[in-house]
Amino acid sequence: MSHKMYLYPKWVRGWHVLNAVLFLVLIVTGLSMQYSGKDSIFIIGFANAVKWHNFAAIVLTINYIVFVTGNLTTRNGRYYRISKQNFWSDLLIQLKYYSMGMFKGEKHPFPVTEQSKFNPLQKFTYVLAMYLALPLLIISGFGLLFPEITIKRFAGVSGLILTDILHITMGFLLSVFMVIHIYTCTLGTKPWSLFKGIITGYHESDEL
Ligand code: HEM
Repeated sequence: MSHKMYLYPKWVRGWHVLNAVLFLVLIVTGLSMQYSGKDSIFIIGFANAVKWHNFAAIVLTINYIVFVTGNLTTRNGRYYRISKQNFWSDLLIQLKYYSMGMFKGEKHPFPVTEQSKFNPLQKFTYVLAMYLALPLLIISGFGLLFPEITIKRFAGVSGLILTDILHITMGFLLSVFMVIHIYTCTLGTKPWSLFKGIITGYHESDEL
């Protein structure tokens, strides 16, 4: 029997769609900056890429503040709370399901409920992406945008180079996260179930 749960309030859906579009803009303009030369244009060329990258980054930062504030002030924040109890064993159960169980037609080990909309692996990666990698990406991005506030040298190496390495590493890791995230979002009851949820707000499940 199928039933519906309202799990994605309007502000989460608004934040998410803007975040996803901005991420795509940042990836394209980031690559464009990295691979455009003085006389060669990759995708949109260096100068245009810088302009659009900076603009998208500022909107992304404001949108990130909306995300954190929303999770601090609404019930959505509770889905991100990680408990130490059974942390590693639950993570292992979910990994086993993704690597073997689901191919044998086993049921989801942690079905979606009103109390817990993320499985342990989703929760862990969402917390890492949203509360570690994204803040580091944003802070290092501002360090590059305003080089005068960036420390000049650290352990004998240019502070700007270290900030740049941190920025591209986080950008790369979050791009990998996004690809895996989109793939795991196809693993709901039906391949499109979770995508429908983040658009309509309702998660449909056949599992309870
Ligand atoms: C085109 C790109 C993207 C697509 C198609 C997509 C798809 C989805 C879908 C279907 C869900 C609902 C399933 C769930 O609750 O786990 C979701 C939720 C989520 N996505 Fe994405 N996503 C994209 C980009 C991103 C990016 C770039 C980030 C972060 C860097 C992100 C972070 C999240 C988070 C944190 C949630 C949970 C939101 C909440 O309910 O509190 N997504 N995404």
